[in-house]
Amino acid sequence: MSQSVLATPLTLPCGAVLPNRLGKGAMTEGLADPHNRATDRHVTLYKRWAAGGTGMLLTGNVQIDRRYLERPGNVAIDGSNGGLKALEAYAAAGTSNNNHLWMQISHAGRQTPKAVTSEPVGPSAVPLNMPGGLFGEPRALSVEEIEVLIDRFANACLTAKQTGFTGAQIHAAHGYLLSEFLSPIANKRDDQYGGSLENRARFLLSVLRKARAAVGPDFPISVKLNSSDFQQGGYTHEECLQVVEWLGQEGVDLLEISGGNYEQPSMMGSDGAMEPIYDSHVTERTKAREAYFLNYAKSIKQVSTIPVMVTGGFRSRAAMEDAIRDGDADLVGIARPLCIMPDLSNKLLAGQIDMAPAYEQTLRLGPGILGPQSNIALIKALNFGGVQAWFCEQIFRMADGLDPDPKMGVFRAFLRYQRGEGAAAKALVY
Ligand SMILES: Cc1cc2nc3c(=O)[nH]c(=O)nc-3n(C[C@H](O)[C@H](O)[C@H](O)COP(=O)(O)O)c2cc1C
Repeated sequence: MSQSVLATPLTLPCGAVLPNRLGKGAMTEGLADPHNRATDRHVTLYKRWAAGGTGMLLTGNVQIDRRYLERPGNVAIDGSNGGLKALEAYAAAGTSNNNHLWMQISHAGRQTPKAVTSEPVGPSAVPLNMPGGLFGEPRALSVEEIEVLIDRFANACLTAKQTGFTGAQIHAAHGYLLSEFLSPIANKRDDQYGGSLENRARFLLSVLRKARAAVGPDFPISVKLNSSDFQQGGYTHEECLQVVEWLGQEGVDLLEISGGNYEQPSMMGSDGAMEPIYDSHVTERTKAREAYFLNYAKSIKQVSTIPVMVTGGFRSRAAMEDAIRDGDADLVGIARPLCIMPDLSNKLLAGQIDMAPAYEQTLRLGPGILGPQSNIALIKALNFGGVQAWFCEQIFRMADGLDPDPKMGVFRAFLRYQRGEGAAAKALVY
């Protein structure tokens, strides 16, 4: 049997080589201690993911400021919390199969929940347009604060390198701080960081310049970028293409393409619920529907030579192989299936499996109007939260040395997750 194209190594502009074309999309773990340091549970989890054969693992987002977490159990590198030894152990476990482990570096911005802070920060004092009152009204960052954050991003990249991570990814997608600066909806500034696209992209580009200077030419730096925010009046795909051109001048090794934010969670598929995939026979139409950012990646490839990872929806081996063979993507990003089948990549590479598990297509709180297609907004939101919680609980199980449990109920997962997050927020020590 001929070898799958997925098994081909990928050489990045900085010279680093990824062993195959499969990358794990970042997934927040929620496993840090009350000082936001990594723990033994990261070690257990990432040993398992490394053994699973994925060539490049991304961590869940690691925050540059403990005050602005995306969730209480985030790891943070913020100078005051120590934790370097724990990061070394984390990195060693996550690279234990001659694979890469890259740290995703982030600042949650106005998407920092109230459980973490009543006053998040953002480009401007524009609150999230979401029901439920889970997020406070943000305060606009001063120019001096932005400059400190640029240094913190660069410093976190250097810490990643020094502690044994084999690359870093700057998170500029999904409505977190850098993505907020790109968005004309969240960014109403009239200084050098707002207004024109050039100004809105200044924060991100400054971060990259400093980060590259800090880590040197040989260390992989990636950016996770939205292909679009998919919002009326928001950051568009045309703007994305211009940002990509600018990123080309900053020595970026891998561009990961995603989309959306908390207000518009396109990164999980339409309305957060992917359309069912019926079989592994992939036509052009189903390929585009399955890997929902692939067409955006194609247009990005027309304006840029930066290698591209596309994450979101890939489930059939045929679509993954086609995307690589056709040159639409250089790396296939996979996230949710690895919560339930951590050795999926080994199976794909060996040709032992044609379809990744796709539990998100069937998981729901209940039948009919209790499901994700309910026309009651609250029930829809609860389904989205419940399914996310289900995947997070699977991550917890693997971190505790257990196998994933595909039979876990969504409602039970949701309740347990909420209880755990509440307790973790109360336990934070500042
Ligand atoms: C439980 C969970 C946690 C996630 N956490 C992050 C994160 O920390 N950073 C990030 O960029 N994306 C995060 N994502 C989004 C994934 O990286 C990915 O873009 C998304 O799940 C779509 O890919 P998939 O269809 O292969 O799951 C998360 C997704 C899930 C399900």
